[in-house]
Amino acid sequence: ASFNLLLLPGDGIGPEVMTEVGRVLTWLDKNSGATFETETDLVGGSAYDAHGESISDDAMDKAQKADAVIFGAVGGPKWDSVPYEVRPEAGLLRLRKDLELFANLRPAICYPALADASSLKRDVIEGLDILILRELTGGVYFGEPKEIVTLENGEKRAVDTQLYTTHEIERIARVAFELARARNNKVTSMEKRNVMRSGVLWNQLVSAVHKAEYPDVELEHMLADAGGMQLVRWPKQFDVIVTDNLFGDMLSDVAAMLTGSLGMLPSASLGAPDPETGKRKALYEPVHGSAPDIAGKGIANPIAMIASLGMALRYSCDMGDAADLVDGAIADVLASGARTADLAAKGQNSVSTSDMGDAILAA
Ligand code: NAI
Ligand code: MG
Repeated sequence: ASFNLLLLPGDGIGPEVMTEVGRVLTWLDKNSGATFETETDLVGGSAYDAHGESISDDAMDKAQKADAVIFGAVGGPKWDSVPYEVRPEAGLLRLRKDLELFANLRPAICYPALADASSLKRDVIEGLDILILRELTGGVYFGEPKEIVTLENGEKRAVDTQLYTTHEIERIARVAFELARARNNKVTSMEKRNVMRSGVLWNQLVSAVHKAEYPDVELEHMLADAGGMQLVRWPKQFDVIVTDNLFGDMLSDVAAMLTGSLGMLPSASLGAPDPETGKRKALYEPVHGSAPDIAGKGIANPIAMIASLGMALRYSCDMGDAADLVDGAIADVLASGARTADLAAKGQNSVSTSDMGDAILAA
């Protein structure tokens, strides 16, 4: 098979960690049996500096055609005062919107070698491997009306609207069940049906999709607040958690911190399957930002970025074995004791970004 990837390194440490992804891709191109063609383009502040917008139409065109977009990070103090419409984040938001990336996957994996870095007890998180699936393009972040109005008595009133349609709920539910089938076959759906109409509809539609199309997968419903509690009490009870945009934003950040450093966390955002080819548009990125405080020093942790490539292999290239190889190499390198500065304990030696890349390639 042959894959076309668009690499968008972005700003700050984005290009530094993307360099290591490039090396892994070169290795895969030689050794995996698949062929990877890559193109690289600008996004974020670096794109603004080059042509006055945070992503060009040309780059958007490439993103539409690519099998997957591999995205670094954008932003930094240099661009804090550029006009709102062309601020670095606008490039990422345009990608999400134009590619209709409605399904945001955030794995929370606890590598045994890092289990002591979590704030939770080792037995609670050691071996943790769960996936939070957040609906990314609907709900209260986008629903209209959305406004602050001044009332006749001078008081102000802020309005955000939680809004979900059948189509939006069913398509995210299907992604959840598909993901679970390829993992441990369990979905937990979280909403607040006790106080929100959108929660009632969410609950009904997830159940209906389950019954009609995925009866082989175990389905459980949980109120989102109780789910948050369970996530911290005993996270290993979950496999795939599916939830709306707002609850997913919060629960995925909580889950992320069960596992240690920001430099470890990959993510994927998927669109709808093409009716003809079945392929989904997709963007893969680390959860972290451009880390201006360490940019240019060659010390950034490339694991989140490389693990994001691993997700691209799994979900866009149908190369689960290659993805397992990447994830296994990361686990082995951590077990061998190699640590970038963000992971190293006080007084412990740390390795550079490229040393970590070397070690992962060797593994
Ligand atoms: P950040 O994630 O860039 O950094 C937070 C802290 O974590 C910093 O101390 C940083 O050094 C550390 N860190 C992050 N990634 C690391 C890595 N791979 N290796 C080692 N240490 C790492 O978040 P912050 O500081 O809030 O934002 C910095 C800039 O990034 C801002 O301009 C922000 O808007 C942008 N940002 C961009 C995102 C994106 O492109 N998707 C997401 C989050 C923030
Ligand atoms: Mg967030």
